Amino acid sequence: MDPEKNPDWLRMRELAALLRQYNHAYYLQDLSLISDQDFDRLLQELEQLENKYPQWVEDDSPTQRVGGGVMAGFETREHLRPMLSLGNTYSEEDLQSFHDRCCKSLGFNPQYCAELKIDGVAISLHYLNRKLEYAVTRGDGLRGDDVTTNVRTIESIPLLLSPTAPAEAMEIRGEIYMDRSAFEQINRNKRELGEETYANPRNFASGTLKLLDSKQVRRRKLSALCYQLDGDFEFLQGKARHHLRMDLLAAWGFPVSDHRIGPSSFEEVLDFIHCWHNGRAELPFDIDGVVVKVDDFGQREELGYTAKSPRWAIAYKYPAQSVQTILHHVQFQVGRTGVITPVAHLQPVEVAGTTVQRASLYNDAEIRRLDLHIGDTVHLEKGGDIIPKITDVVKELRPAGAVRVGFPDTCPECGTTLVGHDALHYCENHRDCPPQILGRLEHFVSRKAMNIEHLGPETLSALLQQHIIHDAADLYALTQEQLSPMERMGERNRTRLLQSIEDSKKTPFEKVLFALGLRGIGEVASLTLARKFQNMANLSTATREELMRIHEIGEKSADQILAWFADPLNQSLWARLASQGLSMTYRSRTSPSSSAFEQGIHAVMEPRPLENKKLLVTGRFEHVDRETLKQRIEDAGGTNLSSISSKLDFLVAGAEAGPSKLRKAEELGIRLLSEEEILKILQGNSTREP
Ligand code: IVH
Repeated sequence: MDPEKNPDWLRMRELAALLRQYNHAYYLQDLSLISDQDFDRLLQELEQLENKYPQWVEDDSPTQRVGGGVMAGFETREHLRPMLSLGNTYSEEDLQSFHDRCCKSLGFNPQYCAELKIDGVAISLHYLNRKLEYAVTRGDGLRGDDVTTNVRTIESIPLLLSPTAPAEAMEIRGEIYMDRSAFEQINRNKRELGEETYANPRNFASGTLKLLDSKQVRRRKLSALCYQLDGDFEFLQGKARHHLRMDLLAAWGFPVSDHRIGPSSFEEVLDFIHCWHNGRAELPFDIDGVVVKVDDFGQREELGYTAKSPRWAIAYKYPAQSVQTILHHVQFQVGRTGVITPVAHLQPVEVAGTTVQRASLYNDAEIRRLDLHIGDTVHLEKGGDIIPKITDVVKELRPAGAVRVGFPDTCPECGTTLVGHDALHYCENHRDCPPQILGRLEHFVSRKAMNIEHLGPETLSALLQQHIIHDAADLYALTQEQLSPMERMGERNRTRLLQSIEDSKKTPFEKVLFALGLRGIGEVASLTLARKFQNMANLSTATREELMRIHEIGEKSADQILAWFADPLNQSLWARLASQGLSMTYRSRTSPSSSAFEQGIHAVMEPRPLENKKLLVTGRFEHVDRETLKQRIEDAGGTNLSSISSKLDFLVAGAEAGPSKLRKAEELGIRLLSEEEILKILQGNSTREP
């Protein structure tokens, strides 16, 4: 019998058409044509018929958008190509320099495309045979979470492409976001129920995408816009220009923003940016700027990439939100390299969705530029990134007799006279200044360095105070007996710690080098140095000229390397570490990430928004489990503490956080972070992409 004549077939088509219509009205027109209960009833009927007649299930059936059951967590997937971030700027001068650089490298004026920079979460969509196969978040740029089940529930993402689309495997990238009106409705409901509201649509969209119950995701009305189709397939012959590919995406059924221009001149791009500066308030969703991209793919190749981002594109960000607050005092913090950083302690104030009560003042010059006095009313700005900045002082509001902020002459921790280099002040008492010793050890054991587990800052600090250790090499001589007087460290923990120290001896040379914490030598430079010089002995005798021949090593870094090796304290440290069995010789590996590096595909360095920050995670979280959250904090450079003390920078308080912890944090003036806030920080600009 012809399926068309079968009443079940007819009912299936009817149900699908009805459900599509209700979905469309609900998600795109904000109309509820049917109650949730009735919707679910129709959907169930369709599901039952589909189970009976699997041969008649349409690839884009409304049942496919419902999502599966509740998942235990997300699998991760490696990106076919790293998901890079974009260089960004808030100034037109920088934009002009970007254009000048492009012109200079290419030898002519390129044409650009300009698009809105949607303030959401990046997503990579994979299609095969025109069907959505899987969807992955940006993650760390190399691997992301497989959020396919959730993405399937997003109405504007096609599950099945138009027949004009190619059947080949394709990857399309875009942004998932939430309309302001849908977000505001959710917050209105929360307010009415007396519940805490969500910070902003981007956080909410990002949290939603990570929900384990995809039915809940469906209810939250996420949207998407696509902005990237890479690859040089046969079917893309003659389409090596961005604007042509955007047109293709639209024709195949992808949501693509109409608010874009290109191919256009640089002047037209500037007009577009000016036009959307005020126009953005009228948009139904948040944007944080405009993305400018070279149109032609051949020209893109020529311009190339930096370690983090393409040289052929830039994000112009609209000015940040600004608020006023009061400066209470300035604290001078000592870092592990001895650098002194002034930190402003402020009257807590809400800016761009988070409460801010501290801001870095960077250096003495910045304090003088601001002519800062205690009690001053200051303007605080927070851009797309999480770092708040004091931009200026409202001099008219300065209290009478206010004391000017001055940079100390001596180290606030050990009293040594400070020394100035390159606009920064240092305490050069590296051997004995307590925060430097502790900072170096914290860095040494950290995950990206020696990855010694079960050795938090508190234990390190106690080991130092009790003179059990003095430097990193002493860790390798630790015994059960030495550890036994330590508080909160039973035999099992002691054994685990000693095992972790032992295991760390297998850490590859480039990480050992990074762990030693030479000033200005990060992960990438450590790897380059390890490759170039092969072992510590060669590196220790390298000349300034040899060092400077390396791409990433400038004059200052070269001098710092030379100074590090000239210090007898360091010479004895690495000699002892070597004798304890740590690797001082480079061994090349062919793991996927290092081979990608080898081939010149640049490593993606995540921003580390929590570098040197100490956090305590407490309570229950809605969008992540506690252990994952702690891991992500460490990945972002933060350290998890296990109890509240004045050393803590943030108390991350989930639902049902203990009232005594909250009270103690308040007494100590420790900043509280909500789940939304910490997730926003971790998302960085990735999302930084986090
Ligand atoms: S192009 C190589 N276009 O902004 C990176 N990105 O800071 C190519 N974004 O991770 C990205 N709207 O999540 C591009 N029209 C747009 C965008 C856009 C938003 C986000 C995206 C990216 C981040 C870069």
